[in-house]
Amino acid sequence: MTKDDDKNDLHPSTRAAQGLGWIDETTRAVMPPLHFATTFIRDPDNEYRSGRVYGRADNPTYDQPEALLTSLEGGAEALTFASGMAAATAVFLALRPGDHIVASRVMYWALRKWLTTAGAEWGLRIDLVDTDRLDDLRAAVRPGVTRLVWLETPANPTWVVTDIEAAAGIAHASGALLAVDSTVATPVLTRPIALGADIVMHAATKYLNGHSDVVAGALVTAAKDEFWQRVRAVRTGVGGILGPMEAWLLMRGMRTLYVRVERSCRSAQAVAEHFAGHPAVEAVLYPGLPSHPGHAVAARQMQGGFGGMLSIRVKGGEDAAIRTAARVKVWKRATSLGGVESLIEHRASIEGAGTPASPNLLRLSVGIEDSADLIADLEAALR
Ligand SMILES: Cc1ncc(COP(=O)(O)O)c(C=O)c1O
Repeated sequence: MTKDDDKNDLHPSTRAAQGLGWIDETTRAVMPPLHFATTFIRDPDNEYRSGRVYGRADNPTYDQPEALLTSLEGGAEALTFASGMAAATAVFLALRPGDHIVASRVMYWALRKWLTTAGAEWGLRIDLVDTDRLDDLRAAVRPGVTRLVWLETPANPTWVVTDIEAAAGIAHASGALLAVDSTVATPVLTRPIALGADIVMHAATKYLNGHSDVVAGALVTAAKDEFWQRVRAVRTGVGGILGPMEAWLLMRGMRTLYVRVERSCRSAQAVAEHFAGHPAVEAVLYPGLPSHPGHAVAARQMQGGFGGMLSIRVKGGEDAAIRTAARVKVWKRATSLGGVESLIEHRASIEGAGTPASPNLLRLSVGIEDSADLIADLEAALR
C-alpha cells in the first residue's frame, strides 16, 4: 500500500474522506483490502523483516484506521482495540497496582463502575472529582504521587465540559499524565493533544464508525514513550484487539466522519434551542446553549459545533420521561450514541444506582436525519 504523504497538509476532512490517500499497490484499488491472516511468513534466515509475526499483535488492516486517527488527532501513534472499554482499561492496566488516579465523577458509567470495582480491587487508588471545577481537580492531584488524570469532555450524561488545557497544566505540574475520553467531541471538534493531553481515547463504536454496526475502541498518544509501550504490551498480552472486518468497517465509517459530525452538531443545536424553555421541559443540557455551565469553555475548546449529544429533563418526573421515550416514532429508543440514526434513552434506567442522571433525564443522540422531523416527533411525544 502506498500513501500520499503530501496529503498530510490537506484539511482533516479531505484526509478522512480519502483515507489518507492509501492505494493498494497490487491492484491499484482506491479502497483498502481486508487481511484476515493471523500469521505471517518468517524469512529463511529466521528474521521477520515484514515486521509482522502473529495476528494478536499485528494485522495490516489496522494500519489505515490507526494512521488516519493519528493524523486527525495530531498524535504520534494510535492503537485500535476490541471496544472502547478495552481501550480505556488498557490505559489503567498499564499503570501499576498502588498508583493514584484522579478521574471525572461524571463519565461513561460502565468505566466509572469498572474503575471503582475491578480497578480498585486490582490495586488502583482512585479519587473521583468534578474535573470541570479546576480547584477541586488541583486539590485532588497529589504532586509526585498521582500518575494519571482521566477526564471525559463533554461528559455523559449531563455534558459537563472540562477545560483540557487547564487540566493538562494541573496534571503535568504534579508529574501526572492526562488522558481524555474524547468520544463525544471527536477530532472534528476538539484535538486534546494540541491542548496538552498525553493520551486521547475513543469509543470508536460511536462517531468514528458512526453506523451502529461496529464495537471498537482506540487510543492516540502524544509521544511514543515508555508508558505507551506498556499500553501496547497490554493490548498484545491481554489480546483485546479489533477484528480485521471491524477495522475495515471502521475505516469506511471514518471516511464520512466530518459530514456526519457537522450535520449532527447543527441538528443538535436546533433541537436544543427548540426545546429550551418548552413548557413540558424542565431543562435542556447542551454545551451549545449559553445557559450550560460549560458553554464558555466549550466555545473555546470545541471548534465548529458543540457535539451531537444533549439531554432533556422532562417535567412530571420519571414516569413522564419514560412515557415520552415510549411515544417517539422517528427517534429510536436505544442505548449508545454517535450513529447516523437518532437515539433517545431514559438514562437512569441503564446507569442504575449512583448515576448523575436525574430520574426525569432523557439522553438524546442526534443523528443525520432532517432536524425538523426530529423536532416534530419529540414535540408530539412531549404533548
Ligand atoms: C464516552 C464513552 N466512553 C467509552 C465508552 C465505552 O465504549 P464501548 O461501548 O465501545 O466499550 C462509551 C460507550 O457508550 C462511551 O459513551
